[in-house]
Amino acid sequence: MASLTVRQLDDQLKKLLRLRAARHGRSMEDEVRVILRRAAEESGRDALDRDELPVRPLGSRPHAAGADTRRVLLIIGGGIAAYKSLDLIRRLQDRGFHVRCVLTAAAQHFITPLAAGALAGGPAYTDLFDPRSEFDVGHIRLARDADVVVVAPATADLIAKMAGGHADDLATAVLLATDKPVLVAPAMNPHMWAAKATQRNLAQLEADGVRLVGPNSGEMAERGEAGVGRMAEAPEIAALVAALVQGSGSLAGKRVLVTSGPTTEPIDPVRFIANRSSGKQGHAIASAAAAAGADVVLVSGPVNLSDPPGVSVVHVETANEMLAAVEKALPADVAVFAAAVADWRPRQRNRSKIKKQQGRTPTLELVENPDILSTIAHRKSGRPRLVVGFAAETDDVIANAKAKLKNKACDWIVANDVSPATGIMGGDVNTVHIVTAKGVESWPPQSKDDVARALVERIAAASQEPER
Ligand code: C5P
Repeated sequence: MASLTVRQLDDQLKKLLRLRAARHGRSMEDEVRVILRRAAEESGRDALDRDELPVRPLGSRPHAAGADTRRVLLIIGGGIAAYKSLDLIRRLQDRGFHVRCVLTAAAQHFITPLAAGALAGGPAYTDLFDPRSEFDVGHIRLARDADVVVVAPATADLIAKMAGGHADDLATAVLLATDKPVLVAPAMNPHMWAAKATQRNLAQLEADGVRLVGPNSGEMAERGEAGVGRMAEAPEIAALVAALVQGSGSLAGKRVLVTSGPTTEPIDPVRFIANRSSGKQGHAIASAAAAAGADVVLVSGPVNLSDPPGVSVVHVETANEMLAAVEKALPADVAVFAAAVADWRPRQRNRSKIKKQQGRTPTLELVENPDILSTIAHRKSGRPRLVVGFAAETDDVIANAKAKLKNKACDWIVANDVSPATGIMGGDVNTVHIVTAKGVESWPPQSKDDVARALVERIAAASQEPER
């Protein structure tokens, strides 16, 4: 940009400028910068941004911030997980976000502002008192210009500062000044995570409306250390960011309830009746609904899957617990019952382990579990407008699904053939038929994620239709 020469202004203007600068305690040059910045802001934020974006380094991805581009301010804290934040920049860009980075002083021990800036395609900000960046962008604008602020990794120290409202460096000042959603991805040693002070600070952040993702459990950077404290993976964080800013998604403003996984029905403290449901399809539906902007509650039986980001998860074990959690989660606009609920439970739940006795085989007496789908779909009041059931069948798939649609009073049945040869149970691919009052739609084999996305889009389209 051309440099400014105050000398070329006429005397009257110079005098006014000198007075104004003195009144604000600034140099004349700085006063001119402030005036120019305000003028540019008034004449259109987008025009200013186009000028302000530096030349993109070779190899970086095209992501100039246009009017429709969503912006993420990524605050990188000082932990070994900071290297994952470089990947996060890419993942966010892949989802169409423009990313600006702020590095704390500690973060710069792990990664450089140059690396973050090169990937982000713009300067990485580090210093609250750096006159260049303060007059160029300013911490208030950094805080407000983003659609969402992400803190990754969030160290125990940074979390404590946020909870206490500190603002003694650029990262904390921005966090205190922002009026946008804040998503925090903690990463620290499991003992630091479990510490009462950290948990207290996290509770405060949650009460303040800050969203958390992770930490996950696994190996730590320190040899031999494992537990809860690993930063959530970059794709997981990027998916949650997308869900958070997708206010305009096809299910924005809708509340969606999903059940997923098996239920387990205890016989005694160590034995239970279970089934082979993995929960993959139900969890994928919850994720897809969240990505489409819905407020999602997932009631899940015991599964080997992590909680989908951006979804409120209620963990249950038995069918009775699942029904209670579903009823508590209502009202909802849409309910999708993808769980494989056990049809029966042992009449007795022995308080102590049943002992093996020579020559005697215990008899299990079973009683029927409540049918959650049918209970909710038959409700006279508070019934979700769209109730979707699943039918996992090994024979006569469509005929059985049609019968279920009627008996259980639901609006759609997603039917699939789960005979062992199909590999659907526990697998990643699904072939489904959507059975409604209007007829049967058979979808081609596709991944459970794709089934989930297609189902969510169909649900979104149905939600737009006027109520009959
Ligand atoms: O009768 P069946 O178990 O095949 O029905 C499957 C559908 O009913 C699924 O949507 C399942 O989630 C739901 N269901 C339920 N509660 C039960 C049994 C099934 O919600 N006890």
